[in-house]
Amino acid sequence: MQRKLVAVFLNLCVIAQCLAQESSLEKNPKIRLCQMDHRNHDAINYVGTRTSGGGVQLGLLLLEGLQEQDDVLEIGFGALMSAIPIMSFLETGHYAGIDPNPWLMEASLCIAENRAVVSEKQPVLLRNSNFDASSLGRTFNYIYAHSIMSHAAYWQLPLFLENCEKVLKEGGKVVFSLRLTEPNEYGGEGADRETQANEWQYPGCSFFDKETVIREASRWFSKIEHKKEYTKLLTEDSRGVCHDWFVLTK
Ligand SMILES: C[S@@+](CC[C@H](N)C(=O)[O-])C[C@H]1O[C@@H](n2cnc3c(N)ncnc32)[C@H](O)[C@@H]1O
Repeated sequence: MQRKLVAVFLNLCVIAQCLAQESSLEKNPKIRLCQMDHRNHDAINYVGTRTSGGGVQLGLLLLEGLQEQDDVLEIGFGALMSAIPIMSFLETGHYAGIDPNPWLMEASLCIAENRAVVSEKQPVLLRNSNFDASSLGRTFNYIYAHSIMSHAAYWQLPLFLENCEKVLKEGGKVVFSLRLTEPNEYGGEGADRETQANEWQYPGCSFFDKETVIREASRWFSKIEHKKEYTKLLTEDSRGVCHDWFVLTK
């Protein structure tokens, strides 16, 4: 009974925080969302994230304490759906991203409003598939990766974690989503066992045991949190986005 009450209380806290966050997003005239039209239609279909979902993703980082002067690295920025709101919130030059498929970003940059944000905010956009931003010689307060490890080969999870740790500031956070073998309450059906794939899975998904995530993450990070409430926020925007979320602190 006491446990249930604590769970209800925590849920109410998250809802209150989100409402405050939503109004702060609305009140902040600097924040831009990624615009969509026929020119980035194929890219959006490929990544599966829409304008509103990009805004919700910025909301998650705000819940984790993101400030305008922080440095953010996004791994797998795709069609810039979350990149545009995140970089528009940050001070100029504070966003960097990695993605191996530049056609996704190029499609969104056909739209003048998206181009304007990128030209004002001067992000660094890298093209590679090993999650490695060390060539930049910079460190970050936040590293963010939505729907990347949910498609990863088994060997890519440890590589991702190691490469994140290399460029994360002391006390910085990695906020990332993936699919767990255990079901969640928001539509994630889980899987009988880990995928343990040798290659990137797309458009299919790969599944990891929570135990594997904790074991691998504890090699590099001092605090590991499974943020079940973040799944609720994403699924409220788009039902199919039922990934589980982890926040790792260095
Ligand atoms: C499902 S989409 C998610 C995109 C974006 N994070 C979003 O929420 O819209 C997966 C993305 O992973 C990118 N990707 C594929 N292999 C990758 C790799 N090894 N490292 C980083 N990104 C990768 C794809 O190009 C694509 O942009």
